[in-house]
Amino acid sequence: MAHVNVFDTTLRDGEQSAGVNLNRLEKIEIAKQLERLGVDIMEAGFPASSQEDFEAVKEIADTIRGCSVTGLARAHKRDIDIAWEALKGGAEPRLHIFLATSPIHMTHKLKKTPDEVVQTAVEAVAYAKEKFPYVQWSAEDACRSDYDFLVHIIEKVIDAGASVINLPDTVGYTTPDEYGRMFEYIKANVPNIDRVILSAHCHDDLGMAVSNSLSAIEHGARQIEGTINGIGERAGNAALEEIAVALQIRQDRFNFQTNMVLKEIKRTSDLVSRLTGMMVPGNKAVVGRNAFAHESGIHQDGVLKEASTYEIITPAMVGIDSNRMVLGKHSGRHAFKQKAVELGFELNESKLKEAFESFKNLTGKKKEVTDDDLFAILTDTQTEYDDQPKYEMKAFQVQYGSINRPTATVLLTRPDGEEVEKANTGEGSVEAIYNTLDDLIDADVHLKDYQLSSVGKGRDALAEVHVQLTVDGVPASGRGSAQDVLEASAHAFLNAVNRTLYRKHQPVQEAQV
Ligand code: KIV
Ligand code: ZN
Repeated sequence: MAHVNVFDTTLRDGEQSAGVNLNRLEKIEIAKQLERLGVDIMEAGFPASSQEDFEAVKEIADTIRGCSVTGLARAHKRDIDIAWEALKGGAEPRLHIFLATSPIHMTHKLKKTPDEVVQTAVEAVAYAKEKFPYVQWSAEDACRSDYDFLVHIIEKVIDAGASVINLPDTVGYTTPDEYGRMFEYIKANVPNIDRVILSAHCHDDLGMAVSNSLSAIEHGARQIEGTINGIGERAGNAALEEIAVALQIRQDRFNFQTNMVLKEIKRTSDLVSRLTGMMVPGNKAVVGRNAFAHESGIHQDGVLKEASTYEIITPAMVGIDSNRMVLGKHSGRHAFKQKAVELGFELNESKLKEAFESFKNLTGKKKEVTDDDLFAILTDTQTEYDDQPKYEMKAFQVQYGSINRPTATVLLTRPDGEEVEKANTGEGSVEAIYNTLDDLIDADVHLKDYQLSSVGKGRDALAEVHVQLTVDGVPASGRGSAQDVLEASAHAFLNAVNRTLYRKHQPVQEAQV
């Protein structure tokens, strides 16, 4: 069976989703999970875009050994130099350079003639090749480009040293048949095409990203690009878990395999969803809550008699295990640690202590602590900065009644260690807390979005809140979980504010070269 490389861009194109802003610890946690999932290449970010991105890409490249780490760069020497500084410690340093080739982009965005675009692309690839063993070049907006211009520029870029040529459907415009024909055309007309791997990168604006990717594979692509849960710019990217499972289930048709460890799909999806705040719709293929739920009596009866009547994918195949052991108030540190490892967390001693305390707290309120609860506790602990000055809530109280105006009182410690307390009101309990927190925080904070969900099932399930704020005009997202909705809401608000504080405390350096 032939092999297709999987190129994951959750941490770059995925992070470009509106409202998503991952911190360094969250990115590392996702990167480690992508390594476990068995992706061949992970795009860790765009190093020249910010100091934060540079540091995250560098740490990921220096840490991850099981796959190749890449970063995005424009066709500029400065971007390439910065990317090299971030990526050079990686197991297999790789650069991803992009430049638009469609008339719309060349005329209006780049303001370059086609000849100038060819020259810029060739110079950038040749320059990158002096440093990087592998250079990928992307013809941005390939699907709206002139095919003969693509043939011409691709031939030149291969001669300059590119080892992968990516043909992105940047605006999610193409159809499966058209995209497949584009790959056929490039293969048939670029004389040196045998020296490179062709890659597909699809966006989902018309809901065809996965179908287009599968069509590209059938017509010569040997690398597919996408994200976990299909997150990404606008309507998102092709969902990698859907492509990998489709290749597995329909081997009879595709006859291609990937290195993806399908059993890691559920955990990867949960982690990305929790850390980005991008909820997975219940009916989403492969990872949605209802993907394996059979509702009608006829279907239930069929599945009980023979699962394959209505189930083409088994929950176990993608890592959904319904028979896991739950922990309770008698579970000790040893069982907790073992469970954390089983759930995929590598905690150092102080993180383990912290997480165990949160677990013990929860057992005082909840009889059975489920894997979902533990996953929330462990993710929050693992991605929290310990040494960062921050606002921390010590206590709060809310008074609510149908005839009174809700009032919240909050006691918190400020980043300088001072304890402060205030009370304020609002139209509802959450607003009362947020107005009070706003009074206690030294910044101009505005709430842009608020989402509440439950972690797992049952009346005593944990509440999880995701918020988007602007803090002194800077967008910031935050999340918080607790058994009480109001407490989770307060944590999410402070989490978002604390993230902006951390950014302020990082030294700002210009180019790293
Ligand atoms: O969609 C796109 O064109 C991209 C490029 C940077 C490859 O993400
Ligand atoms: Zn893209």
